[in-house]
Amino acid sequence: MGQEQARIFHPRPEWLPAAHVPSLSQYERLYQRSVEDPHAFWGDIAKEFYWKTPYTGPFLNYNFDVTKGKVFIEWMKGATTNICYNVLDRNVNEKKLGDKIAFYWEGNEPEDSMKITYKELLHKVCQFANVLRSQGVKKEDRVSIYMPMILELVVAMLACARIGALHTIVFAGFSADSLCERIIDGGCCLLVTADAFYRGDKLINLKQIADEALQKCKDRGCPLKKCIVVKHLGREELAVAGTCSKSPPLKRLCHDVQGKQTESSQRFHPKIPWTPGRDMWWHEVMSGASTDCEPEWCDSEDKLFILYTSGSTGKPKGVLHTVGGYMLFAATSFKYVFDYQPEDVYWCTADIGWITGHSYVTYGPLANGATSVIFEGVPTYPDVGRMWSIVDKYKVTKFYTAPTAIRLLMKHGEEPVRKHSRKSLKVLGSVGEPINPEAWLWYYRVVGEERCPIVDTFWQTETGGHMLTPLPGATPLKPGSAAFPFFGVVPAILNESGEELEGEAEGYLVFKQPWPGMMRTLYGNHPHFEATYFKKFPGYYVTGDGCKRDKDGYYWITGRIDDMLNISGHLLSTSEVESALLEHPAVSESAVVSHPHSLKGECLYCFVSLRVGYEFTKSLEDELRKQVRDKIGPIATPDYIQYAPGLPKTRSGKITRRILRKIARDDHDLGDTSTLADPSIIDQLFSNRCNTKQ
Ligand code: PRX
Repeated sequence: MGQEQARIFHPRPEWLPAAHVPSLSQYERLYQRSVEDPHAFWGDIAKEFYWKTPYTGPFLNYNFDVTKGKVFIEWMKGATTNICYNVLDRNVNEKKLGDKIAFYWEGNEPEDSMKITYKELLHKVCQFANVLRSQGVKKEDRVSIYMPMILELVVAMLACARIGALHTIVFAGFSADSLCERIIDGGCCLLVTADAFYRGDKLINLKQIADEALQKCKDRGCPLKKCIVVKHLGREELAVAGTCSKSPPLKRLCHDVQGKQTESSQRFHPKIPWTPGRDMWWHEVMSGASTDCEPEWCDSEDKLFILYTSGSTGKPKGVLHTVGGYMLFAATSFKYVFDYQPEDVYWCTADIGWITGHSYVTYGPLANGATSVIFEGVPTYPDVGRMWSIVDKYKVTKFYTAPTAIRLLMKHGEEPVRKHSRKSLKVLGSVGEPINPEAWLWYYRVVGEERCPIVDTFWQTETGGHMLTPLPGATPLKPGSAAFPFFGVVPAILNESGEELEGEAEGYLVFKQPWPGMMRTLYGNHPHFEATYFKKFPGYYVTGDGCKRDKDGYYWITGRIDDMLNISGHLLSTSEVESALLEHPAVSESAVVSHPHSLKGECLYCFVSLRVGYEFTKSLEDELRKQVRDKIGPIATPDYIQYAPGLPKTRSGKITRRILRKIARDDHDLGDTSTLADPSIIDQLFSNRCNTKQ
């Protein structure tokens, strides 16, 4: 590590004069209280929220030790509340924030924007909650949401929360197969989607993909019979027809409607497949729906949502979060980690289809009455200065993005950044994967001009909110380290035998006691929940990440230690990709390993063996790539596919991925190969390597 990268960046008082936590000693005091007396710490925070029935029983009840019985975690069980009420009605009625902007929506095209106040959002959510109820959706029912980054996505998720139904949001970049699998696993009764949208130049015909998924669901006997569709690309038609006066014209469409039927205009009007009796337009079911809707009062431990994340078995895991604890944790971490102040304009670039979007686009900011930006597009469209032009347009103060986006923009140099003022920025955040010190320093120097602290937040879909993170006014920063535990979080580093290591150490990162935002189970599969997170080291929650602690107590995440990989901040299991490859008739065996990538962090390097009669050609390679895209989605597109006449295996037939990882990297230091059944295969694999020079 260079001298610069080893530097410590101390918070300067002029950065955040009114920070919630202005010094390290104050952080330490608050932290101690949060872990020694969670009842008092979280109990005080809980008082800021509305509870229909306040808690009377034990504040926290749990068992982390599988050897002593069932693992369970309960915060404030017996108390009743509603998270939608807390993030909307409480802000409008108690805090008088009805006219405050909840979201600025920035479309894919720079000309397209909308805004919505807290009061307007509340009304829309109540209307859609009434629509859901009128469609027969009840408490505990599951609603699948497959939408682009538009305001109706927030409306749909909050409407579910209002009536006690569980939302299960599927990122709109996932394929029909992935959507189908998640709908079936969740036993969803209704799907909310949109007609189509653009990501940069690319048209995504979402309804067509949703239809394919619904057909697959039907073929598999799934009872989902209702689908509500937002007319998003078709918004202009609605505005022209006067059906939806509030929607602004979407400029692309505007040209279309006024222009001739050119080839490009057809591009903007994809045909939307429609199944009468099942499909309903959002604007039609919403018209006339009442803006009053009594919330469903839920137990603190009632289910709030399911969100699928990759599992090392290859089958996605339905991570389940509950109402009360998640609400406290998302709200509190948002407040402290971004040092939220009422005049802030906050922007998290994550898609709501991931946990970052759940906790830090929707629930955390809204619980604090914040004004946020929601962005539909991509950082490079129409040019690589788009992020900074949005920062200037809305005077964004707190900005949260992923290392992969930073590395992508870094590649284009400083000029597109410096062209924009960015003087509103106060805090910069990073999430999703380890941020390499070089990218950290670029973010700090070029984007933040050395006046914005960077919060590198380590957490997981399973944790619901930030676990290790600096606090902007308090923590001296080390580039590449997620610093210290957030309130209520007790980390430990274990060695292979499960012993806790003290001081400077490296090993498995685990957590020793529950925090309010942690997952409660894997939907419909509690034994798998226990086996995945609690079995390896009884008494601890196991993250699956490796970690180092330095002499100053800073935590440094070293990456996954299971067979998961992290592509552009998104987890993917190698076995999920292997099964997708194996479904191709030409493939007899496959083994997938992670490979370093300068922008994405990691990428997929696949080895495939072929059935007799098939030849490894460029067109087969393209087919295999498409196969994985179609099965999982574009993020899973393999960068490298190598033909393997055989795979290195142990005598018991287990593929040694450790060796394949080295072959992919052209690293000949293979260590012990004596356990291999046929070591001669290794030379052949080295000579067939793909060219990995980026
Ligand atoms: O490996 C860690 C990495 O992302 C994993 C969690 O992925 P997911 O559940 O998709 O949630 C991503 C957004 C919270 C972790 O197990 N990870 C996440 N944030 C960081 C990180 N690795 C290092 N530093 C981070 N800040």
